[in-house]
Amino acid sequence: MRRTPAIALPLLLLTACGAPEAQRTTPPGADSAVVNVYTHRHYDTDKQLFARFTQETGIRVNVISAGDDELLSRLEAEGANTPADLVITADAGRLGLAKQRGFLKPVKSAVLDANVPAHLRDPEGNWYGFTMRARVIAYDKTKVKPEEVRTYDDLTKPRFKGKVLARSSENVYNQSLVAAMIAHDGPEKTTAWCKGVVANFARDPKGSDTDQLLAIGEGLGEVAIANSYYIGKLLTSDDPARQKAKGLIGVSFPDLSGHGTHVNVSGAGVVKYTKNEANAVKLLEFLSSDEAQRLFAEGNMEFPAKPGVPVAAVLQGFGPFTADTLDLSQLGLHNADAVKVLGAAGWR
Ligand SMILES: [Fe+2]
Repeated sequence: MRRTPAIALPLLLLTACGAPEAQRTTPPGADSAVVNVYTHRHYDTDKQLFARFTQETGIRVNVISAGDDELLSRLEAEGANTPADLVITADAGRLGLAKQRGFLKPVKSAVLDANVPAHLRDPEGNWYGFTMRARVIAYDKTKVKPEEVRTYDDLTKPRFKGKVLARSSENVYNQSLVAAMIAHDGPEKTTAWCKGVVANFARDPKGSDTDQLLAIGEGLGEVAIANSYYIGKLLTSDDPARQKAKGLIGVSFPDLSGHGTHVNVSGAGVVKYTKNEANAVKLLEFLSSDEAQRLFAEGNMEFPAKPGVPVAAVLQGFGPFTADTLDLSQLGLHNADAVKVLGAAGWR
């Protein structure tokens, strides 16, 4: 997901099919067959799922898309007047922040408790993860041996001087990776890791995760930090511009200090001032259902949260891995420190 500028941009009010909704015809709360969603996710799978939800329940899904920080600012500014019923982000850190700032309300649902494992949701029910992604190392198979990229620490070794590709530290995925490291190893060791990675950069951070993968294809670096689903999408892409990278890239699930690979979730929480709570919970339950979980897995190459739903074949091909079971609310708690550590290390 691209980082959007922190300045307040005009927000788009979209219907589930993506057409701008010229004007709200009923005040928030007056329509019992609606759910208003603030989302940072921009994937086609989500549009399909919202349309399917409407078909099955008759509940219309109004979508407001924006960057995660903008959505949080908007919830803050709107307070009790917010039209939002459900907020969706692609980062547990942001969900944790939304909870800390009092934007969410705890909900109880036997369906959600059954479908979403405990480590992928807030213990008090303020938010629920519905997909998981791993932050992995992609490497050039022709230049790097798998045993050279077993841990995140490997990225700091002299072996990879001038070879490491990564996006900017403004990106929340990197912030949450570093927040997880701080949670496990403390700020000092984490600062040293960030400095080591910066010292090995192939170029100044720029672009998306996918841009780092394409840069491997261009020979601009040998290893890149990226989310697993971007690699799944690249490896199943017919786009001629992606074929060079597609032929070169291998995947390592690096270990973080004996805890396994850093994972994050996309998830959602019901907004404290919701006027359509039952509909919001219904949509949340739908997103955790087999039907939705299968589409997240096949359509967006994410790991389904619900146990037993098959992982996409291309991801299975990466092999098994151990996911760090760190309580993901820690990502929000350590976000500010992560931003400081990244800044202190000179990771732009
Ligand atoms: Fe993304």
